[in-house]
Amino acid sequence: MLPDNCKKIIELKNVDKSFGGVHAINNLSFSVYEGEILGLIGPNGCGKSTSVNLMTGVYIHDKGEIIYYNADGGAVALKEQSVPDRAKLGMGRTFQTPKPFADLTVFENIYTIAMLYNRTLKEAYKAAEEIVKFVQLDDIAEQKCTKLPIEKRKWLDMARVLATRPRILMLDECLAGLTPSEMETSLDMVRKINKQGITVLFIEHVMSAVTKLCNRVVVMEEGHFMTEGDPLEVMKKPEVIRAYLGEDYK
Ligand SMILES: Nc1ncnc2c1ncn2[C@@H]1O[C@H](COP(=O)(O)OP(=O)(O)O)[C@@H](O)[C@H]1O
Ligand SMILES: [Mg+2]
Repeated sequence: MLPDNCKKIIELKNVDKSFGGVHAINNLSFSVYEGEILGLIGPNGCGKSTSVNLMTGVYIHDKGEIIYYNADGGAVALKEQSVPDRAKLGMGRTFQTPKPFADLTVFENIYTIAMLYNRTLKEAYKAAEEIVKFVQLDDIAEQKCTKLPIEKRKWLDMARVLATRPRILMLDECLAGLTPSEMETSLDMVRKINKQGITVLFIEHVMSAVTKLCNRVVVMEEGHFMTEGDPLEVMKKPEVIRAYLGEDYK
């Protein structure tokens, strides 16, 4: 279930976050291990996106600790790190609603970001060329991003985050709005990304995708940790079924 080396890459310890009167994250603890594809699941509004926003620095947690472990094992407390600092550490994420630079072409969107994460322009260009092929957008590389359909926006969003050379990639509902065959293409990409050694945190509503893709899942409920384990085993647990389908489910 867990990868062999079992080294943590991110750890949340008793994390709390409130927005005014909304206690969105409540004493949340879980770890992500290097090399795994971890599914983060739970009913709508349980705090999955907020967790990603706390890990990547969009929001700052009120209490608890979020720790990032470098490749050499050194621990970094993330509270003091800005969003760009966290990206430099190797934390990448996609968005539920991708927003590419509309005035730039598909290639320029990737190249612009690659410039910030490579030593020379030549290296950045080469990286962008590889990535645009990887996400299968090379045939529209010179197209402006104003009218890209949803699936291509999602793949471009994946490409832009790959250009930051992440060690961990957090995918927040990257399948939403896709057809079944586009979903398969996306799942294939995620598998290949993981095979390159990139850890994946996969947030998804489509359970068949979670069971196909993930080594392990963490289930959240009302802002806190509910359970974790093998995807198929976890889905059978009465408390998980109840959280998804309501108290009356028999
Ligand atoms: N910026 C915000 N301001 C106020 N409430 C928020 C904000 N972000 C999230 N929340 C609330 O936090 C809870 C968790 O939301 P979210 O993390 O988006 O859930 P999920 O991604 O699991 O559907 C919800 O009640 C949501 O309304
Ligand atoms: Mg969400």
